[in-house]
Amino acid sequence: MLKYTELVMDHFKNPRNLGRIDDADAQATEGSIACGDMMTVYLKVEDGKIADIKFESYGCAANIATASMMTEVVKGLSIEEAKKLSWKEIVERLGGLPQIKYHCSNLAVDTLKKAIEAYEGKRQ
Ligand code: FES
Repeated sequence: MLKYTELVMDHFKNPRNLGRIDDADAQATEGSIACGDMMTVYLKVEDGKIADIKFESYGCAANIATASMMTEVVKGLSIEEAKKLSWKEIVERLGGLPQIKYHCSNLAVDTLKKAIEAYEGKRQ
C-alpha cells in the first residue's frame, strides 16, 4: 500500500483546475513512457503570463495530485518562469511522494512544458 501525504490526498480528492478550456491558446497531451498513462494541459496566456490553466488526467492518484499542484503553482507566472518548474519542486510542495511515483509528477510537468512549446510554436 502506497503512503501519500495528506496534501497529496487532498489534491487527489479535490483536484484544482480540473477540466478543459475550450478556447485555449494552447494545449498538449503527453504520455508517460513509464506507465503509459496520459494527461492533457490547456493554457490561456495574457501579457506573457499564464492567465488560466486546466488539466485532464487519465493517470493515477499521484498524477492527479501533482497536476493539480502544478496548475496552482504556475497560474499567474510568466511563461519563462513556468518553463523552469521542476517535478522535484512539485513533489516538495506536496510534502513528498513515494519514489516509484516520481514519474507521475514528471508527466504533469512534461505536459505543461509541451503545452508551453505548443504556445510558443503558434506565435512563431
Ligand atoms: Fe501512470 Fe502514475 S502510474 S501516471
